[in-house]
Order: sequence, then C-alpha cells, then structure tokens
Amino acid sequence: MSSRRPPSNLKGLRSALLGWYRENKRDLPWRHEVDAYRVWVSEIMLQQTRVDTVLPYYAAFVGRWPDVRTLAAAAPDEVRAVWSGLGYYRRARLMLQAAETILRVHEGRLPSSAAELKTLPGFGRYTAGAVASIAFAEETPAVDGNVERVLARIQGLETDPKSAPGAKTILEMAQALVRGEAPGDLNQAIMELGALVCTPRSPKCDVCPVAGACEAHQTKRTHVIPPPRLRKTRPTVKLTAVVIIITDDRSDGVEHARATIVLERQPEDGLFAGLHAVPLLPGHLSATEVTQRLAPRFGWATTTPTRCTPTGNVKHMLTHRTLDIDVMRVEPIAGVQGVAGEKGVGKSESWETKVADMGLKAVPLDALDRVGVPSATVRVLRAGLPAALRSITRFPGRRTVTVASPQSPRKYVVDEAVGPQGCVHDAAHADQETPPRMTKLKKRV
Ligand code: ADE
Repeated sequence: MSSRRPPSNLKGLRSALLGWYRENKRDLPWRHEVDAYRVWVSEIMLQQTRVDTVLPYYAAFVGRWPDVRTLAAAAPDEVRAVWSGLGYYRRARLMLQAAETILRVHEGRLPSSAAELKTLPGFGRYTAGAVASIAFAEETPAVDGNVERVLARIQGLETDPKSAPGAKTILEMAQALVRGEAPGDLNQAIMELGALVCTPRSPKCDVCPVAGACEAHQTKRTHVIPPPRLRKTRPTVKLTAVVIIITDDRSDGVEHARATIVLERQPEDGLFAGLHAVPLLPGHLSATEVTQRLAPRFGWATTTPTRCTPTGNVKHMLTHRTLDIDVMRVEPIAGVQGVAGEKGVGKSESWETKVADMGLKAVPLDALDRVGVPSATVRVLRAGLPAALRSITRFPGRRTVTVASPQSPRKYVVDEAVGPQGCVHDAAHADQETPPRMTKLKKRV
C-alpha cells in the first residue's frame, strides 16, 4: 500500500481538527499575537527541539532581538551565546543571514509566500510552509514528523513517510487538507495533535477528535503505522577534553575568582558552528600525553610543570555520534612568566593576549555566560573544574515555567538561562535529540 488517495471526507476532518485545536492548543507565546518574525523564530527553534525546551530560549531571543531589524544588526557572538545549549547552531547562523537578506531585499518584512520564503537562508519547505500559513494564511502545508505520523495513521499508510513514495502521499494529503479558513491553525492542529494525542507510542485514541476517521485506529494498527524505523547505531568517538585553568601571578591557587579557562573557537561549518569549546584532543590520553600534545601549542617545554588531573568522563550524545570524553584538568603552575617565558614571551604579556595569538580565547570564569559555549563544554566544565570554581561560572539555576493546555496544564522545572539575556544552559544530555532538561513537577487536573 504505497500510495493512497486522501480520505474523501476532508471537510469533516478539517473541522474536527480545527475544533479540537481551538479547545486544546497549548498556550505558547508565539501564538499570542501572530507576528511573522516571532513565528519564524519559534519554528526554527522548534526544529529537532521540543516545545518545552524551546520556551526559555525563545523568550531570551525575542526579548533581545524583537524584530528582523535588530536581529540583522546583532553580533554573531551574542546570538551564539543566547543560542548555546539549544543545539544545531547552524540554525542561528542561517537566521542571521536571512535577517540581513530580509532587511536588504524585503525592506525588513518577511515575504508572505512560501515560495519567496524558501529563497531565504535556512528556510526549507517545512519552515516556509509553517511561516506562510501561520503568519500569512497561505493555504500551504507544513509537514514535520508529527504531521507525517498523524496523516499516515489517518490514511492507514504503511509506507515509511520518509521514503519518496511515503512523503509524496503525505504531502498530497496535507495539501488537500490545508484549504479554507485558517490554514495556519489547521497545520498547527495537526502538529499539536501529533505532539499531544497521536504520539509515537501509546497514542490517546480515546480522546482523539479524528479517531472515527482514522484507518490505523479502526484497524488497530497504530503500533505499526508509521513503520518503526531502524535505529542507526551512533559511532562513539573517544576524546580528551582539556580544562585549562589559568590563574594570574597573584593567585596562589586555583580557588581564585580571576581564574580563566582556555576555549577554542570551533569551525563555522562544524558541529558547534562558531561556538567556543574547551580544546578537545583525539583519543583517551594520559596526563603525560596531554602535556606532550599541548606543549607545542602553548609554547611549553615538555618539562614545563603542569598539574594534570583526570577528573572524570562525560558521555555526550549528538545526533550522529556519541562523544566519550575523558576530562583532564590542566593547570600550568609556572605562572605567566614561567610558562610563556620559555618562548620568550615577556612577563607583561597577559594570558589573554598570548592565547589570542594562538587562536584561542581566555575567558574569565565569571564571564563565561557572555560566550556561546556548547552543552558539551558546560558538561565538561562541570566535571573538570574544582567545586569552588564551578560556583563562579554561575552554572544555571532553576526556575519554573508553566506549559498550559486545557488538557494537561503542567508545571516544569527548567534550567534557568543565565547571563545578560540568558545564555548557557546545562544540558545533561545532548545538543538535542535526547529529551529535555525538565523535570515534571506536578500535573494539575
Ligand atoms: N512544532 C513545530 N511548530 C509547531 C507549532 N507551530 N505548533 C506546534 N508544534 C509545533
């Protein structure tokens, strides 16, 4: 059953979905008052990321850059800092590029058709469809993973929706459905149904507004539609992260508020697109090996005394691989003169200057929140810093956020964004993929 015709009772489906959505939609900030820019920000953030996770980032982002004009003028580093922890940093970079284009070519207003939106950096078919339908009422579909599942089940489509014939069938149905009043609501109704009711496992068919028209439900096949995907195993990459702690001359130990750590800017086209991360060395290395590898980079003689302390291991899941990171704390204990002096660097030269010359960045711990660092680095720092310094970095506190829907108002504890607008987040998991950094507090109702 590769291709099915869309169900003929589209009108009934449409009105059931819209009626359900209006009663049950979550109270999300970008739904309060429709603004194309805010819809765009939310849709980009929601790619690969759960609504609950997005909420504090969204608030920080639109608080800092409330419109295209301000975003187009934003400093990329600041955008990275606000985005850090949300993952897939490329999304933020493309948003900046798109904002510049919108300002230059479209007088600061997002174009209103999916076709025009698709010409902008970072706008694929889904995002263009979502923004055009939600913000500009264009009758155009927006097919994400939730929509695929809902429409596959309604049609009883056993073909994988990610396959070419499966995707074609789903798109045809989405196109046929999204007609008439409120196409944006209709698209969001399907997404919302997928998120709240028509979930991958244990769908709540008893409260589903379209269960009567759902082929998969009627034929008891929701567990095989869509067909379960084979999980690809992620290769594991072994690394050693070096948490290099620099204290100034006047400090007699690392328990010093002026301690600085060394970060390295990541390639723009890499995993951590332009963020600053702790230096990572390939393989699991001993203290001696770490010193040997670092020596040429830092101008140390291999005999330079450093205190190298293994401080733990972090397993960090990314979309396509698992990072198995041994954490090594490294303290060059010779001080500025002793360490730098071996390369003839004068006493007056600061570490900041010295590491900058090497393409590295020395960041005072109390300024970490102003630099975009990936979740992996936050986790490595948690493992690598002595307890006294960990508190200086002001790792996130906690606050609560309520995500409301009439069906299930829930309260969550969210890791609080820190910094000027909210930056570093602790993600005890990954740069996405793995679910959120939230703990359900209580379920009311
Ligand atoms: N996922 C992505 N965009 C969404 C939206 N607008 N509503 C609900 N879920 C979504």
